[in-house]
Amino acid sequence: MKITNLGSRDHASFYVACELFNQISEQPKSILGLATGGTMIEVYHYLVELLLKNKQDVSQIETFNLDEYVGLSQDHPESYHHYMQDIIFNPYPHFSKDLIHVPNGVAPDLEEEAERYESLINQQGPVDIQILGIGENGHIGFNEPGTPFDSPTHVVDLTESTIKANSRYFDNEAEVPKQAISMGLNSIFKAKRIILLAFGKSKREAMMRLQEGKVNPDVPATILHEHPNVEVYVDDEAMP
Ligand code: GLP
Repeated sequence: MKITNLGSRDHASFYVACELFNQISEQPKSILGLATGGTMIEVYHYLVELLLKNKQDVSQIETFNLDEYVGLSQDHPESYHHYMQDIIFNPYPHFSKDLIHVPNGVAPDLEEEAERYESLINQQGPVDIQILGIGENGHIGFNEPGTPFDSPTHVVDLTESTIKANSRYFDNEAEVPKQAISMGLNSIFKAKRIILLAFGKSKREAMMRLQEGKVNPDVPATILHEHPNVEVYVDDEAMP
């Protein structure tokens, strides 16, 4: 696995947006695995710009989001449902609603919801391109350190590190949900192509651990060393 420094967040975001756009335009029935978080904001801004400029048909594009907080309703401003609507699906309102999938963090039975989501990915998949950010502790999706590599979509207890890191999006740390539903490491691994992005100095340590090259359950992203088709793009600050 090669870590490529594209210099700036802006360059890397535009590059990945172009890759997503090309996948969509070349294969109108593509399945995209989408991530949320601060890392993806500019990628999606550029993607929407490309879709608008090219009046791209996305009616057959299917999307699966990686994760959702438990307990946040779809209209909560920090829910990943809301994030996706706000950043992609409202600015480019041509996706088919029934082909957009985000785990339901307020499902009455969370285990059942995780199983439903995993079955749907298996039924519809494989994902053509899976986009990933990375947590400061090396998590992908919300797969925290120690997550078994064969995990399917599951309910996760968030670690202190993740709660602290993500408190920047909430009024205070107490408001950060303590659990999430996340695609598992095994669900992510099934994608045909994986693109991981990391920006800023807070991600540098995770990138250093990824660069060590060893598969280590304490750094969940290292499972990607075993995947045949992974690209990693960083900016100057995250470059190990
Ligand atoms: C979050 C999300 C991940 C995301 C990562 C980095 O907790 N669950 O999917 O990739 O952590 O987030 P950010 O891009 O905001 O730094």
